[in-house]
This record gives sequence, C-alpha cells and structure tokens, in this order.
Amino acid sequence: MADGSTNETTGEREWVTPPPSFVDAANVTAADSEAFLDAGWPACWKRAAELLDWHRTFDSVLDDEETVRWYPGGRLNASYNCLDRHLDERGDEPAVTWEGKLGETRTYSYRELFDEVNAFAAALRDLGVGEGDVVTLYMPMVPELPVAMLACARIGAPHSVVFAGFSADALATRLAGANSECLVTCDGYYRRGDALDLESTADNARLSVDHAVEQVVVERLGDDRSFDDDHVYADLVDEHAGTEVDPVERDAGDLLFLIYTSGTTGEPTLVRHETGGYLAYVTWTSHAVLDLGPGDTHWCSADVGWITGHSYAVYGPLALGATTVLYEGTPDHPQKDRLWKIIERNEVDVFYTAPTSIRAFRKWGEEHLERHDLSSLRLLGTVGEPIDETTWHWYREHVGGGECPVVDTWWQTETGGIVLSTLPGVDRMRPGAVGRCLPGLEAAVVDDAGERVPVGEPGRLVLTRPWPGMARSLCEATDWGDHRTTTVDSAERSRGDSESSPPSGVDVSRDTGDRSSGRDPREDGEWRYDTGDNAVRDADGYLRLLGRADDVLNVSGHRLSTTEIEFAIVGVDGVAEAAVVGGKDAVTGARVHAFVSLESNVAGDEALRERVRAAVESGIGPIAVPDVVTFAPSLPKTRSGKVVRRYLEAIANGEDLGDTSALRNPEVVGELTSLLDR
Ligand code: PRX
Repeated sequence: MADGSTNETTGEREWVTPPPSFVDAANVTAADSEAFLDAGWPACWKRAAELLDWHRTFDSVLDDEETVRWYPGGRLNASYNCLDRHLDERGDEPAVTWEGKLGETRTYSYRELFDEVNAFAAALRDLGVGEGDVVTLYMPMVPELPVAMLACARIGAPHSVVFAGFSADALATRLAGANSECLVTCDGYYRRGDALDLESTADNARLSVDHAVEQVVVERLGDDRSFDDDHVYADLVDEHAGTEVDPVERDAGDLLFLIYTSGTTGEPTLVRHETGGYLAYVTWTSHAVLDLGPGDTHWCSADVGWITGHSYAVYGPLALGATTVLYEGTPDHPQKDRLWKIIERNEVDVFYTAPTSIRAFRKWGEEHLERHDLSSLRLLGTVGEPIDETTWHWYREHVGGGECPVVDTWWQTETGGIVLSTLPGVDRMRPGAVGRCLPGLEAAVVDDAGERVPVGEPGRLVLTRPWPGMARSLCEATDWGDHRTTTVDSAERSRGDSESSPPSGVDVSRDTGDRSSGRDPREDGEWRYDTGDNAVRDADGYLRLLGRADDVLNVSGHRLSTTEIEFAIVGVDGVAEAAVVGGKDAVTGARVHAFVSLESNVAGDEALRERVRAAVESGIGPIAVPDVVTFAPSLPKTRSGKVVRRYLEAIANGEDLGDTSALRNPEVVGELTSLLDR
C-alpha cells in the first residue's frame, strides 16, 4: 500500500518507510538496536556511556538499592567531552556556527571554542565561582551562551539558563531560588527589527534579590553604555586569553545544570540534571535518533533557554563532534525564507524544530522554500507538541524533499532527552504518532486507578523504567513505589478521564508497546514516573500524544503553568478570581485565554484588561501574556467551590458543553458563552 494512505480494514494510517540510502548509513541499524536490547536492562545503558570519555570508569551502570544512581563511581567532565577530546581530530572543524539577527555570521572551530571556554572559565574562577556554585545565564541566542555553559561545566559550576524572554520578576525568582551569586547577561538583543534591553531587566532583578550578585555583561548591542560595577565579557576573555583550565572531574551524580520549567503550582518548578546520566543520554539520543556524528551540521531551532536547546543545540551535538547552528532571529525576518537561507548556506544535514513553526511555514507557502536548495538535509525532527498528519507530510514533502525520514520526538524537561520516537534507521514512521519508547525504556498507558488500558483507549502516559537522562528528583525517590501514581487528577480537571476506563467485556491487552518484552524492573512493585500527558497506543505499539492531563499549557512548544499565570492576574487591583485555560490555535497549538472575575463595583474595561496583561508580562514574561481576557460575572464552580476548567475550555473553544447541572452556578456558563459570541 502506498505510503501515507489509510488502511480500510483497520482505519490506521499506513506506514512511511525511511529510504534505503538513509537506513544503510544510519548510526543505529536494526542489528545495533537488537544488540542494545540483548545486553539486557540496565546493562544496555553501558552503550550510551561508552560514547563519552570518562576520567574514571563507573563501577556499575545503575545502582538502584536506595535511590537511582546512574553510572556510580564514574567521573567525567562535560566540557572535556564537548571540547578537549575533539581537538586532535577535528580542532579546525566548526563547532558552533552562529547567524545573528542583523545578518552577521560567526563560526567557532572546536579549537576556538575550546580557547574561549577556557578563558571564560578562568575568568569565572577569578570572580570567585567555585565547584558547586550556581551561575545564572540570562542570555539570548548568542554564541557566548554555549561558551558560558561549557565554561561553567569545566569548573564544575552548575549553570541555570533563564530564557531571555522572561521578566525581571521571573529572573529574580530563579536567582533567589538557586542562591546564585553570579549572573551572565547581555546588554540586549535583537528581536525582529527591535533592539531589546536585557541588562536593565537583569539590574532590576538583582535589586529584588537579597544576596549580592556579581554580573558579567556580553556586549551584543554595543550601544556605548557604561557598565559601572559590572564586568564586560570581552574584557574578561581578553585578560584570560591563552589560559587553560583543567576540567574538574565530576562525579556522575554531580549536577551539570538546573533549569526551571512550569509545573502545576504557582511557582516555577526546579529541575536538576546530573553530569553522567544526562550527558550519556543526550549524546546517545543525538547519535541514535538525530543520527549525528562528526562532520554533520545540525540545527535545532529551539532557544538554548529551554531544555531542547540545552540537550540538542549544545550538549548532544558537541559531545559527538558535530557542528551546531545557532540563530538569533525569528523565521520571518527580514523575509519568510530566512530559515531556508540558513539551511542552504550552512548545508544543514539535520533540522529539528517545533510543529508550531512548521504550521507557520506551511501557512506562509511553499514559494519561500522553493527558491532554496535544501538537498543537504537528510533527517528532519519535531519536538514539543503533537504534529498532525497533514503538517507531518507537508514537512517531509516540502522541507525534506519527499525523502527525509521525520522523527517525531516526545520528551520533557524532566526526561533530559528524547524518550519516545522512531529510530530513523530502523523503524517505519506512522505520521501523527510518535512511535514507541526508545530501546531500554518502557512506557504504559494507564487509567485513573493506575491499571494499563487496552489498545486504542486513551489514558495517562507513565514511564515504567528509569533511564539515564532522568532528572534528579526522579532519581531521589527512595522507593520504587514512590512514583506509582494512582492520583490522576480527579473529576473535572482531567480532560481524558471520562474516556480512560476500559469498557466492560474488552480483553485488556497488557502489551506495553515497548521494543523489549522484558520483565518489570522490580518484581514487587513497578517503578513509575507520571508524565502528566495523555496518550493512546495503537495495535502496533505506536503512541499518539493527546496533550497534557494537568494544568500545564503548551503554547508554541513552551510550557506554561495556568496557576502561575492566575497568580499574576489575581495580584491586579480589582480582580477577584482568575482561571486560565488553553484555547485551540491552528498555528501555536494553544492560546492563553484568561477568564477574570472582578470585585463588585469594578468595571471590566480595556484599561483593566491591559493591566491584567501587563501583570502577566512583568510577573512571567511576554510569552505568557493572555491572548484573550474575558471578564466573567463569576467562574463555573462545583458545589464544593472548585472552578471547573473543562467548561471554560469548551467555552473558549466554542465546543459543546454537555451537561452542566452538577455546577453550583450553571447559569454562568450560558452567560460566558453569550459574552464570547458577541
Ligand atoms: O506535553 C508534552 C509536550 O511537551 C511537554 C514537555 O514540555 P517541556 O518540558 O517544556 O519540554 C519540551 C521539549 C521536550 C510534554 O509533557 N511534548 C513534547 N514533545 C512532544 C509533546 N507532545 C506531543 N508530541 C511530542 N513530540
């Protein structure tokens, strides 16, 4: 049957097969994948660690006696693995190639990157940064960002990168939370045609932190401002030019970095990644899924401020000796063919981006691509949100020349690297489905009671075996049962819950959809990590992701906590209550829709709407600003007083509300619907 057509018997989309030319040359072949599994679990994960150079070999792959410890006894340095070990063989090859917003380009060979990282590492030490001290990097997409990350890694100082789009308040929370006494930032950066000031925001953040924070400023705008007590990055690098700093040997379990993400609380969630497990995992997945190696040019278009940029724009490709492309600007500036120009000029082999961007490219039209030679591409990837079949096919056809395999990769900040995906040299692709777990991992789809649901039934996606890239909080569970989750958020908050219980009389298949049929890791209780996502598995074990089951929105592939946004809104004078939900958006995946009820005698006018938006902008940043603010007479609530978001979501999306009689105030639903209709 032709690729991409529908099988009339099963109703399933048909397979798309990777071209033989790709399969023959792939880093991981079917035989490699078999051999990986044959090694058994957890021994198979030795293979990932073997892609790295260790100062001291680990005593075992996994110690799970009390907590989960990957590669215990092993000692290594991430900067050494991304730089030093490449110098002899590929010192002159490009490591980072950067495209600036104004059209300028800069390329660092591995040798040049090594030199600058060493100089900056020496400078950080002189500023008093020692092993274990957290350095915050509040920087846009400039090459000094990976330099600073690797300089921190070199001296054993965990970095905490804060996305440059976050506000002063958000930066202050992160500086204080990590007790970070050193901040590296930029005077500013360019976004579309505008120069944005970053340093003033950083200054404001420092003012609201209790402890002193030393600041280094990269001059990106070069607008002749004076830096008073701050240190200028270029001066520091000049002063320390030629200095070599021995890479500090770190225990596999020592922290490489911290990163904040959005969870279900009002506060940002701190995620910590360890040196050995994380680096081995991102290097392995860059090798196996993104098919990278020396000589390859890889472009992961995610901002380095997010986990995707950490794993697949910096650590993974550099550990493998590939070239990584960084781009400062936006895809449509100055013209809508900017990305294709970059791919053509840099002869990019592997392009990894988010479905939201692909939907925008599609909307802009093929003519922007057709003017460029994209034949260097051999693999495409997507990450961050589900990709629908039409967009998948468009991507493969128009960007990938109808030939490139497309890997739809599912993972999270907490997983460190890709967890669900096809292996491009091994597996057939099924557009719209991510595929199975990578070898060495196991997933299950479960119902509210934690029981596996049958094929075709939606439920909560849980991971049932530890993997090396897992965040420290997951490792720290002292008991394998700690992560067993039976508390799938009850009743009204869970979108999938009404659909997830197996219908009676159906044979409940317990097939997990994994590659191995291996035993559960522990006989007497299965280890579980609840991903917070809903998924459904088809008869071939391929998983489709159905979105978040909790109160986390995914806007343009960025994770936003509804609670965090609500906290910012209720701080506005005159606001009584707020509930934020995701409205569906054809391009960005979700729109932030805020329903705001006001104190009596307060008028819901445009000025107040602006104050609501401004509060979110200053509390979190422009990415979280509500697209729609609806002033509500009140919010729909259960008899016990809980806001029922399900109805608000349906109202925001113009969907059928179903039975509202269980509400304490069902009339408000009608009022809100008619408010939005107007
Ligand atoms: O809901 C899933 C969605 O993004 C969430 C993780 O967000 P974050 O930690 O910011 O990491 C983003 C980059 C890995 C997940 O819980 N998600 C990620 N990849 C996919 C996805 N949803 C569907 N398909 C994907 N390929």
